[in-house]
Amino acid sequence: MAIAAFVRAAVTISFAGALSISEKVDGGKSKWPMETDLPRTVLASNNSEFSGCGKNISGYFLIESLMWESTWLAKVSSTASCANACDKNEDCVGFSSRKPTGGKPLQCHLYRGLHKKLHRGNSFVRCMKGFECQKGLGGFKFSHAGTWRDGKMIEALADEPIEQCAVACKRNRACVGFTHYVGTDDDSYCFHFENEDNKEGPKRDMRTVTYSKCTHEQEPIPHESMVLLRQLASKKDDANQSSSLLEQQGEAPVAASMLEQQSEVVDGEATGAVDEEI
Ligand SMILES: *[C@@H]1O[C@H](CO)[C@@H](O)[C@H](O)[C@H]1NC(C)=O
Ligand SMILES: *[C@@H]1O[C@H](CO)[C@@H](O)[C@H](O)[C@H]1NC(C)=O
Ligand SMILES: *[C@@H]1O[C@H](CO)[C@@H](O)[C@H](O)[C@H]1NC(C)=O
Repeated sequence: MAIAAFVRAAVTISFAGALSISEKVDGGKSKWPMETDLPRTVLASNNSEFSGCGKNISGYFLIESLMWESTWLAKVSSTASCANACDKNEDCVGFSSRKPTGGKPLQCHLYRGLHKKLHRGNSFVRCMKGFECQKGLGGFKFSHAGTWRDGKMIEALADEPIEQCAVACKRNRACVGFTHYVGTDDDSYCFHFENEDNKEGPKRDMRTVTYSKCTHEQEPIPHESMVLLRQLASKKDDANQSSSLLEQQGEAPVAASMLEQQSEVVDGEATGAVDEEI
């Protein structure tokens, strides 16, 4: 019995190796806090029980009773057609479906998202309840190797560690994600991605359900990025003096599974030239 329990615990911890899953989404039983930010990119989740990804509408998870300043309205009469409108628009990253009082027609609000660019750099977005967050980079989740369009280079953070780029983004609520980019000459750069509609935070509205795009498919993570993610996670472990034997037992399986992923990757983009703007 005791051994079985130990093994179970070790397995749970190994799953959390480089990532920590924030609390489970509980189907609206507790309120989403006003600190919630709408992700401006499609979030990957391989644990739909925690994230609720695809539970109500395929390709979306829901954020109940919160809505943001929206970018467009679509004239549709149901939540399903609102989802359809968002699916069809590549600028759309999520939508709010609002049922006004007095039998007035449904309101379908669409939100604009970031556009990925595959080039050098590692990009992170604000983490979300129910999704896996990066250890050692409080409050962020790895998005992809590459960047997005329309970043703002933070000159004061050039050649500063990635953690500084993350902290500065976290402090600015308009900042929904960042790219840390290391040039071939080892110079490093910090880019922030701002979305003005995020700045004011959400409004609470009991007649609204917001749906945000998600996927069950995490893109293969290139070797260089994996090295960075491991480093971030292990820095945090070093910093925690009380890290137990159990945690160390959990390390090995994670390292193995990450190595498996590396071999699948062809990271031509990641080793390309650095001359153009990212
Ligand atoms: C989810 O992904 C992480 C790493 O990305 C992996 O360690 C874990 O085993 C996966 N979990 C499931 C249930 O597939
Ligand atoms: C989402 O699905 C759950 C059950 O799976 C249901 O209880 C809930 O009412 C649904 N929410 C919306 C907004 O459709
Ligand atoms: C440090 O590790 C212990 C268990 O080993 C854990 O309970 C605690 O939350 C960790 N602290 C931080 C800051 O990660």
